[in-house]
Amino acid sequence: MKPIFADEAAIKVAAKLLSQGRLVAFPTETVYGLGADASNPIAINRIFQAKGRPSDHPLIVHIAGIDNLDDWAINIPDAAIRLANHFWPGPLAIILNKKPEVPLEVTGGQTTVGLRMPNHPVALQLLRVFGGGIAAPSANRFCRISPTQAAHVEKELGTVVDMILDGGVCEVGVESTIVDLSGDIPRLLRPGHITRQEIEAILQTELINVAIPKEQASSSDVRAPGMMTVHYAPLTVAMLCPHDQLTDLIKVLNLQNKTIGLLAYQYNPPENRGLHLLCMPEQADSYAQILYASLRDLDSRELDIILIEQPPNTEAWQAINDRLGKATTLSWTNH
Ligand code: TXA
Ligand code: MG
Repeated sequence: MKPIFADEAAIKVAAKLLSQGRLVAFPTETVYGLGADASNPIAINRIFQAKGRPSDHPLIVHIAGIDNLDDWAINIPDAAIRLANHFWPGPLAIILNKKPEVPLEVTGGQTTVGLRMPNHPVALQLLRVFGGGIAAPSANRFCRISPTQAAHVEKELGTVVDMILDGGVCEVGVESTIVDLSGDIPRLLRPGHITRQEIEAILQTELINVAIPKEQASSSDVRAPGMMTVHYAPLTVAMLCPHDQLTDLIKVLNLQNKTIGLLAYQYNPPENRGLHLLCMPEQADSYAQILYASLRDLDSRELDIILIEQPPNTEAWQAINDRLGKATTLSWTNH
């Protein structure tokens, strides 16, 4: 299945396919989504099959506007309205208590539902023409890197989707921030482009961080697959490394004749012998934008190892550090 330029006519066809229970990959501002009619359990099951994702992992339902919140959720707290008013359309998913009629297939059997109004003209137009909610996880195989270009979707899921809408390169590049407002206290389930501070400023209260350390994460005790150890991983062994250790590490790997990819932040290698070097932007937003495409690029070169220079550990880099932690199987401190 080749990507199709997402003009008005293509979006109409896509909406028709969705209403027939088919799968449509479409762009959002974060990453490409693998969409299906959120009210159709058969269509939802197709998503799980296509991704190879366990069916107890909940999906985010994309909606056309704040007015649609109560099509899906009950007991909507004031905090949810405030966040939606401030950040939607945008890269924020809100977990709320679900309406009884929302299929359990969408929520992975849970009594809560994840909702998001994406900020991408193609996604918004598709939602308007379709007229319902679109359940859409990232359009990648389970535990693989999320797609930020239509070509990524074609490569990974081209044989199993019914249509791929091409809306260009995703602007944000990492998945949405997820805030859980279904309980008594607001919780941050996944960091993203919208930072903890920005959300806390609107909520006027502290956000409890439930992202669990990588070492403690196991598939049995996590709620969101975004928290799993191996999520977002390239196939090549990848390792996070502090700036000042890189020279030594590259020397050692060179002596072992290893082929090395390096995702550099500020590091400038003294010699570039056989090194597959990608220099990343110094701004967090620009870094996030090309992170997944860069990892895919290095991954496709069939190297022995991908080294990733540790970027700063500040708030602006939280989402990136979260994804890098999940993309890497090794870290310098393990050695
Ligand atoms: O940016 C995004 O959110 C992208 C685009 C396509 O919108 N979607 C995305 O979907 O990242 P996915 O399925 O790859 O990740 C959604 C995350 C999962 O970690 C899932 O477990 C969590 O949202 N989630 C969804 N509903 C939930 C719920 N009811 N309770 C807890 N976590 C939930
Ligand atoms: Mg995903």
